[in-house]
Amino acid sequence: MIFNRKEKFGWLLKEIEMIAARKSGRDEKLEDICQLLTTHVPYYDWVGFYIVDQVVKNELYLGPFVGEPTEHKRIQFGHGICGQAAERKKTFIIQDVTKEKNYLACSSKVLAEIVVPIFKGEKVVGELDIDSHQFSPFGSEDEQFLEAACDELSKIF
Ligand code: SME
Repeated sequence: MIFNRKEKFGWLLKEIEMIAARKSGRDEKLEDICQLLTTHVPYYDWVGFYIVDQVVKNELYLGPFVGEPTEHKRIQFGHGICGQAAERKKTFIIQDVTKEKNYLACSSKVLAEIVVPIFKGEKVVGELDIDSHQFSPFGSEDEQFLEAACDELSKIF
């Protein structure tokens, strides 16, 4: 079956908006979004959220995720792809993690990664992290979709 990104991402964004509008707690919503994305996008193999610690300065902790467990439960700003995205306040797309020096490996199966910050005003409050078991899986459609999703999620932080 052909994977039509434009169509699928349009539908997924509406689903994410509906999940965000529910009455449940933040982490329950984030967990449902991880489940939704891993189920419906064949090359999203690990989907999770890192949350900015409000007490320990410049540190992220692992929030809800779907996929293999990771040893990286806390990440300092600047460390790995997640830490760099938080520090530089921008989306990072790594199409081949084997070529990346500042990268924290979770599993040898992971070949590519995209990390999208979630903002509250100017501040990064969390991020969406997606690992893929394929090389170069992410296109500009993924970036636009995930940034729109994170804009929506800003409301629940
Ligand atoms: N690879 C990430 C660490 C988190 S795991 O992908 C779940 C990084 O380099 O920041």
